[in-house]
Amino acid sequence: MSPPSQERNNYIMHHWKDYPSAPSNGAFIGNLPDISQGATTLELNTKNGNFPLILVKIDGNIYAYVNICPHHFLPLDYRYKKILSRDGEYLVCSAHGAKFDCKTGRIKTDKLTTHEMVDCLLHRVPLNITTDGKITIAHDK
Ligand code: FES
Repeated sequence: MSPPSQERNNYIMHHWKDYPSAPSNGAFIGNLPDISQGATTLELNTKNGNFPLILVKIDGNIYAYVNICPHHFLPLDYRYKKILSRDGEYLVCSAHGAKFDCKTGRIKTDKLTTHEMVDCLLHRVPLNITTDGKITIAHDK
């Protein structure tokens, strides 16, 4: 059941920095060689709590998103850990099956087509990768 609209609006974040536990710029995430191919979920320890993060390593690139589905605000790996689609193109929410493009976070609305989901996306978290492979939170442009 969806929360009533006013209550729902209280949950809606518009940017990854809106989350109370958002990490500060430059926060260390890990070393690139240690990140597995595909999708990895983790909790980043910040001074304001744990920040839920998805790292996606595909085609030599790495993408990061807040691990909160815009449908019911659950982690994408709420029911099971394997959230990358077989073709490696989408992150699939384990709760109700919403699919998000791995490279953009945009929803693919073939399963959930309700009006409120059409413009949904995962919040992208900007990364910086140093020449020696250290991954940190990047400064937003
Ligand atoms: S919480 Fe419903 S699709 Fe993700």
